[in-house]
Amino acid sequence: MPLTTTADLVTRAAAARRAVAAFNIITLEHVEAVVEGAESLGSPVVLQVSENAVAFRRGDVRPLARAALAVAEQAAVPVALHLDHVRDDTLLKQAADAGFSSVMYDASHLPYGENLAATRAAVGWAHGEGLWIEAELGEIGGKRGAHAPGVRTDPDEARTFVADSGVDALAVAVGSTHAMTSRTAVLDHALLARLARAVDVPLVLHGSSGVPDGELTAAVVGGITKVNVGTALNLALTDAIRVHLAEHPHAVDSRAYLGAGREAMTRTAARIIRVLSPP
Ligand code: G3H
Ligand code: ZN
Repeated sequence: MPLTTTADLVTRAAAARRAVAAFNIITLEHVEAVVEGAESLGSPVVLQVSENAVAFRRGDVRPLARAALAVAEQAAVPVALHLDHVRDDTLLKQAADAGFSSVMYDASHLPYGENLAATRAAVGWAHGEGLWIEAELGEIGGKRGAHAPGVRTDPDEARTFVADSGVDALAVAVGSTHAMTSRTAVLDHALLARLARAVDVPLVLHGSSGVPDGELTAAVVGGITKVNVGTALNLALTDAIRVHLAEHPHAVDSRAYLGAGREAMTRTAARIIRVLSPP
């Protein structure tokens, strides 16, 4: 079953009025944990690599992408690979060759007209390569440290942006913000309903680590079809390693604490996938 496309998973999620979970991966442990968490529930999942993660991997997307592909190909559930928050055109143009079926092109920091022009060009290129492409309108905060839960995507702008850019999905600012370490975000569900009526492409929630379970469930009911999660995995990984090393101050073998971290990430991934797929 294994490797599939983001387009397929998002289309299926939309038809089932559910959302597919998309987890940011940084290490092989992230990859294994997310896939194991998805397999434990028999649910599909998206593995996504952000431009920041590529920078951490010494600027080369291929080693992590190949590891993710190898795990995806062996998975017992459908797994798709997505390239996330791309600003750099050179990286964008590596997406298809590196094995990604989709990309999120992020020009949301630019004024509306420049975001539209850059996104339209990225869409033209991506569709020529057979890639599904997501873009962002209304810059969702927290990417460079500054949280901005008050930022909102305007529904009329969203309608025009989607029509004029040709994107396949739209990331919207409805109250979440990236890199939250507490699950206290409050979403603007009335705005989400207006956005869902305004555009005819799937909506994507970013910064979902800070969104409480009940808010996530309501967001899916309100039209969110892809839910991006990163920080929650890192919290689980780091907490587990911290506890393990406190309990084993003379530990040397990295497999012991990385194993504890991987198990914690597996539990976190499974918890979030379960929230997005109510019975
Ligand atoms: O695109 C990635 C996500 O928006 C991750 O956000 O780290 O706050 O969960 P998060
Ligand atoms: Zn994001």
